[in-house]
Amino acid sequence: MGNTDSIEKMVAWQKSTEVAKEIYLLTGAFPSNELTGLAAQLRQAIVSTTASLAEASSETAEEYKFPYYKQANTHCIETICLVELAHQLGLLALEPYTSLMGQLDEISHLTKELSFGPLGYAPSSDAAIAQPDLEYYFHPTATIDSGASIGKDTRIWHYSHIMARAIIGNGCSLGQNVMVSDDVILGNNVKVQNNVSIYTGVICEDDVFIGPSVVFTNVTNPRSAVSRKNQFLRTLVKQGASIGANATIVCGHDIGRYAFIGAGAVVTKQVPDYALLVGNPARQIGWMSAHGHRLDFGPDNKATCPGSGDTYLLDQGTVKPV
Ligand SMILES: CC(C)(COP(=O)(O)OP(=O)(O)OC[C@H]1O[C@@H](n2cnc3c(N)ncnc32)[C@H](O)[C@@H]1OP(=O)(O)O)[C@@H](O)C(=O)NCCC(=O)NCCS
Repeated sequence: MGNTDSIEKMVAWQKSTEVAKEIYLLTGAFPSNELTGLAAQLRQAIVSTTASLAEASSETAEEYKFPYYKQANTHCIETICLVELAHQLGLLALEPYTSLMGQLDEISHLTKELSFGPLGYAPSSDAAIAQPDLEYYFHPTATIDSGASIGKDTRIWHYSHIMARAIIGNGCSLGQNVMVSDDVILGNNVKVQNNVSIYTGVICEDDVFIGPSVVFTNVTNPRSAVSRKNQFLRTLVKQGASIGANATIVCGHDIGRYAFIGAGAVVTKQVPDYALLVGNPARQIGWMSAHGHRLDFGPDNKATCPGSGDTYLLDQGTVKPV
């Protein structure tokens, strides 16, 4: 944060306390029957502006300040509207009205500017927060434990939790309520849909897609009374693989490159590259191209992906691009 930013923040807060004082004095002169009406609303609006600014400055983490500046801006605009109304109703003379409007206008501009994150947009409850020193984004409801390594342009959405020793690559997207445990590694461009817990032992290479509510496991024979923390089995999901919604991956089974696991499947065996598996227990019903299309192999054991035009060769039970 630059010095200019800090000065602007101080100026916004100081100005708003001055305006609050002025409003209190001026509304004190309003007719007594106005004290619970416009006067009270005006006082409330300017106090809320000042309070939001104070909240913003008390937040230590920069990313949490923006919503308070946005709130301050909203309250400031409310104050402007009420001042305008008081003037229209003849409760505020021209001179104090003009002076108040000038100051409020300045506060409104400052709070508007301050409510924009470094990447030039105002985060709302629906937007991820831009981190000034970091190159990834997370929603304010997400918890990122200190030490987690998160790559550039990765986005982490509502209520997700990234543990301290997790490693997440560039350009990933982690949806709502995603948990990434210690020692999990996600490569670049990994997409994790809502409600997925990725436990210790799971490694996903680049371009992996994990559908909503996919379940990973890391202990084969869990017992509540027996600690098996040292017996976590590895599950490697190789480059470009997709796992459909609600599928369960029983630990210790690797999923091959560009393999495709159908929705609701329960994977209990190693999955070959480009294989398409469905059902419980998951059985292979065909092959899938890197582009996500079924591959129909002809008598020459070749198949062309209808999406990309790429050709694949089936040779002794394994598929490879030609
Ligand atoms: C596996 C999948 C890719 C197959 O799609 P497809 O090639 O169009 O397959 P079809 O719909 O022609 O089905 C082929 C056969 O497999 C069965 N099948 C398809 N998907 C299945 C699944 N997930 N589980 C069990 N059987 C399945 C069909 O019933 C059909 O059986 P039949 O030949 O006895 O009639 C697709 O069904 C799927 O599960 N996609 C994942 C979607 C998903 O989870 N997306 C997450 C992000 S929203």
